[in-house]
Amino acid sequence: MSASKKIILVIGATGAQGIAVIDALLRPLTNGYPSPYTVRALTRDPQSQRAKDLASRGVEVVQVAVALQGVYGAFVNTDSFSIGEQRETFCGIRIFEIAKQLKTVRHYVWSGLDNVNKKTDYNPLYASAHYTGKARVSDWMRSQDSVVSDDNMSWSIISTAPYMDMLKTGMFGPLRVRPDGTHVFAIPLGEGHVPMIALSDLGFFVRYIFDNRDATSAQELEVASDVITWHELVATFTKVTGKKAEYLALSNEEWFALFNQEDIARPVAPDTTTSFKETFTRFWRAYHDDIITRDLAWIRRVHPGAHTVESWMRANAYTGAIGHDVLKNAQDGKGPRPNLERIAQL
Ligand SMILES: NC(=O)c1ccc[n+]([C@@H]2O[C@H](COP(=O)([O-])OP(=O)(O)OC[C@H]3O[C@@H](n4cnc5c(N)ncnc54)[C@H](OP(=O)(O)O)[C@@H]3O)[C@@H](O)[C@H]2O)c1
Repeated sequence: MSASKKIILVIGATGAQGIAVIDALLRPLTNGYPSPYTVRALTRDPQSQRAKDLASRGVEVVQVAVALQGVYGAFVNTDSFSIGEQRETFCGIRIFEIAKQLKTVRHYVWSGLDNVNKKTDYNPLYASAHYTGKARVSDWMRSQDSVVSDDNMSWSIISTAPYMDMLKTGMFGPLRVRPDGTHVFAIPLGEGHVPMIALSDLGFFVRYIFDNRDATSAQELEVASDVITWHELVATFTKVTGKKAEYLALSNEEWFALFNQEDIARPVAPDTTTSFKETFTRFWRAYHDDIITRDLAWIRRVHPGAHTVESWMRANAYTGAIGHDVLKNAQDGKGPRPNLERIAQL
């Protein structure tokens, strides 16, 4: 590791987001010179396959809170589903405070999500716990100084969106292929729109933030790659793959019936009584009712190469096959089991 490079700490490094961010940070400059960044990765288990893969690419994998010492920057994506809303709110604030105390961190990037409470005037029907914890931390950060200098710390918030890459999973991908070849995309979205972000674009925006500290200091960047209805998604799928497809606009009850009922009744995270079902009822409602929007003109100005769903499908040779482990949590066996009998009836 070269001493002149800026070290970026990535929290959530082995996750779907973290790996995409590391890919972008390590990418050489367009003139072929090496990236100005190296990466330090926080993990609970350096022996996991994902941690070993990072180590083999020269990423320094560390396990403890000394992680922030000596780094130029930090990208912090806490995992709501592993720690729950209360601990996420506290940890999000606390990690920022430690970064400030050290006096050596120069730029701090918080991976946030939209403040659904504020966007609905605190309508309790919409706010899911994995959004509210992150959004509260974002609000608190806005009350903190963001100083762009060689001896102080600036910060940015990147508010992300559902990953386009989840089209390779049962969450957004086709749950069933009927005997006549029809791919069935079934979610409770109605006529709503989903801003989706390709993980490679998420990585781009985080790199953009570190590369443009002045311009992004004290800013919240609400990012996505494309904003689409599921009718558009299905039409694009057929255009790209030539395969027949159908969108079933399920009710929430019909969608939840596609899972093991005991699993969706369980708390969505430790130390919470809110179930997976309650959490994702609110999650879907927010997209069904178009509460979360994005400024695609701004996004394409900053990142002209940002994917559309069509370009993402082509770049990924998307076939509609699901089962790809985008999320580490899914790879680790967390999340509700599918109800295969019900899925077979779609
Ligand atoms: N899925 C989506 O479409 C989406 C979109 C936007 C935002 N998000 C948000 O992203 C977060 C999850 O990140 P991800 O999508 O990258 O998930 P992921 O692929 O399942 O990765 C989870 C990451 O969190 C780390 N982690 C888990 N429990 C931890 C703990 N107790 N302490 C420290 N680290 C822990 C894991 O590291 P180790 O196991 O190596 O320690 C791993 O790096 C959630 O808060 C979610 O709301 C998800």
